[in-house]
Amino acid sequence: MLMMVTITGATGNLGQKVVNELTKLISQEEIRLAVHTPAKANKFHNSKMSIVPIDYANIDLMVKAFKDSEVLIYIPSITYNVKQRIIEFENSLVAMKKAQIKNLVFVSFFADQENNPFKMSGYYAYVPRRLAGTNLNYAILKNSLYADPLIPYLPELIEREGLIYPVGNQALSFITRSDSAKAIAKVAVTPSLRNSGQKYLLTQGENYTMNQLGNLMTEITGHHIGYNEMTLENFAREYADEGDGDELASMYKAGAMGLMNGISDDFIQITGNKPKTMREFLRENYIK
Ligand SMILES: NC(=O)c1ccc[n+]([C@@H]2O[C@H](COP(=O)([O-])OP(=O)(O)OC[C@H]3O[C@@H](n4cnc5c(N)ncnc54)[C@H](OP(=O)(O)O)[C@@H]3O)[C@@H](O)[C@H]2O)c1
Repeated sequence: MLMMVTITGATGNLGQKVVNELTKLISQEEIRLAVHTPAKANKFHNSKMSIVPIDYANIDLMVKAFKDSEVLIYIPSITYNVKQRIIEFENSLVAMKKAQIKNLVFVSFFADQENNPFKMSGYYAYVPRRLAGTNLNYAILKNSLYADPLIPYLPELIEREGLIYPVGNQALSFITRSDSAKAIAKVAVTPSLRNSGQKYLLTQGENYTMNQLGNLMTEITGHHIGYNEMTLENFAREYADEGDGDELASMYKAGAMGLMNGISDDFIQITGNKPKTMREFLRENYIK
């Protein structure tokens, strides 16, 4: 019997990788891509996967998109407004109920502690509590920091001769988007991994202080990358033009409090394989 898995955010950075991993586990006919901007799904048109439009603001559209799904994989939007993201999630819950979705895989982030100053931590803390009060079977996969953005950042780091994250001596932990996607896809297609409110933390086997990460980057690139810590204020100002300086600074403030250094072997428990190490990832992806 076919098991329809519907995935939101399917054309996003992470979503595309989850779709790719799903195709290794189930047939294309069992995968439904719920997309916000249909034009971004053009490359999937020759596949046997179905493509349906959604908008987290439009409940009726989501009901149509979600119906007859065995499982929904929910990847939140990247809006940096807690209230807005909660409304999006609440709309999605209404749609899930109307579409009679029973199983949910929620993609979360590990900055969810009560004392976490990251501006989005309220959202990540809210969802598990909210889900606990529903009749859904669900699992929550908390990503640590994506390793992927470090690759395009390397030229800037080489020029600066150092990392600048304002986290002091605290370590940060990472996961590649590909590994995150592998775990999400496996949980989605395996009822025993998602039927009882499981919470998973996806990380590599080691975390890194900025000195350790700089040393590793020096080894891989052949350029000296040390650690020239910025103040939170300067960091926020530095990235203000990109629109998320304050948000990123609030996240690294959490890092400086030791709230972003968690390590777990959940990836191994889910997939049976080791996650890609930071050394392997940088070596495979850094182009001199
Ligand atoms: N762990 C980390 O280090 C880290 C870093 C950054 C972000 N994240 C989180 O990880 C998740 C995925 O990140 P990503 O890099 O894959 O982001 P992304 O590429 O922006 O993916 C987000 C997806 O949400 C969709 N979306 C946006 N607004 C929507 C709406 N109103 N209704 C329905 N769908 C909507 C987007 O579709 P369109 O493009 O068509 O709008 C996109 O496919 C996000 O929740 C993000 O907050 C984690």
